[in-house]
Amino acid sequence: MFNIPFTLIDYKITNIFQLLKDFVFNKSCKDNKEKIIDTFQKEFPNKEIALLPSARLGFYLTLKKYFKENDEVIFSAMSFPLYVKIANQLNLKVVLVDVNQSTLNIDENKIESKINTNTKGIIITHLFGYPCEISKIQKIANKHNLKLIEDCAQSFGSYYENMHTGNFGNVGIFSTSLVKIPTTLGGGIVVTKDKDLIKIIDEFNNQLPKSYIIYLKYFLKNFISLLNSKPLIYTLFSSKIFSILNKYNPRIYRKIIYSGMGLQKKFDPSERLNLKNYQVNFGLDQFKNYSILRQKCKENSDYIQNNLKDVNEIEFLNYKQSTKWNHQYLVIKIRKNLENFSKKMFNNKIHAMEENVWNCLDYGYKIKNENENFDITKNNNIKLLRIQNSPSLKKKELDYIIDTIKKVSKTHNVNE
Ligand SMILES: Cc1ncc(COP(=O)(O)O)c(C=O)c1O
Repeated sequence: MFNIPFTLIDYKITNIFQLLKDFVFNKSCKDNKEKIIDTFQKEFPNKEIALLPSARLGFYLTLKKYFKENDEVIFSAMSFPLYVKIANQLNLKVVLVDVNQSTLNIDENKIESKINTNTKGIIITHLFGYPCEISKIQKIANKHNLKLIEDCAQSFGSYYENMHTGNFGNVGIFSTSLVKIPTTLGGGIVVTKDKDLIKIIDEFNNQLPKSYIIYLKYFLKNFISLLNSKPLIYTLFSSKIFSILNKYNPRIYRKIIYSGMGLQKKFDPSERLNLKNYQVNFGLDQFKNYSILRQKCKENSDYIQNNLKDVNEIEFLNYKQSTKWNHQYLVIKIRKNLENFSKKMFNNKIHAMEENVWNCLDYGYKIKNENENFDITKNNNIKLLRIQNSPSLKKKELDYIIDTIKKVSKTHNVNE
């Protein structure tokens, strides 16, 4: 069995040839951009849509337009940490709300007590793609005249009562980064009724730098990531480096694995180039195949969960069966000692992501109510492990993942 890499991107060899061709010739892809927008428009009939180089840029421009210094904005305590950093950078006051135990999304019943006359917005994250209790949150936002922003980075293909996530807030921000389905190998999509925000985004896009060095840098990063997402290539090359780092320098190892989270330095809105042709063309193919990819994610998740339901050392999140969501992430809770469990998985060739990165209190950012209890966030964040359920996995690989989790669970000594 080959090593199973952290990120498995589903693509065909023909995509690679096309990618290289697009990179070299860099032919205009305006039509294909429009096609991606058209696909989106079906789910957001009344909204304007803009493509960007990342979701984080869309978030930055949204905060900048809607809020001024010292405005209070409410976040879930389990949010994308860079977004809290961006709010800090814009001198907004961040107020956190704990999550609910079942889904780890913001607890809608704890929001209202945090609202005062300085509160101007609520930011919700559909964590792991599972929708928040959004109709209640929408009512609260309307009652207090607050802007509602949906972080839909992980929730393309997820619905709340048959309405696509991103339709409820003033703005919905999707990510098509390398690790998302569908991916444009880096990218973000904003949906909103606010034409002025779309204008700001378009203008910002047009004045992004046009550097060949950055173009090359991102292309190489994407190209290597695509190759690495094939178990054979990953096993022959990168996995060896990761194994050495994991053993001898876990700090650097972690830094590399989570480099996409943008935690290292100040957020620079001009850090990336406008979406490039090779990205748009790769992305369009993903969008075309999306219903198949989504279905495979669900089947794989169901298969893994059904086969692991009797394993006592792990636990699944308590999602409603009837909810229509994308099943893009399969995150499990390891009851005790996540680090040790994930190391054993690693040594058994499954390089899974520890998802203990969502607690926004962990990063030293300025948070107005940091001294309150966030027990559910704190207790759960330290347990999360993401299991690969990519559409590209074969049955043999899924069975190997299941067997390994069972095997590791048996030998998992909580005191190690
Ligand atoms: C929940 C969440 N929000 C925001 C982002 C940022 O997306 P992007 O990388 O496109 O800026 C991510 C990316 O992983 C995410 O998972």
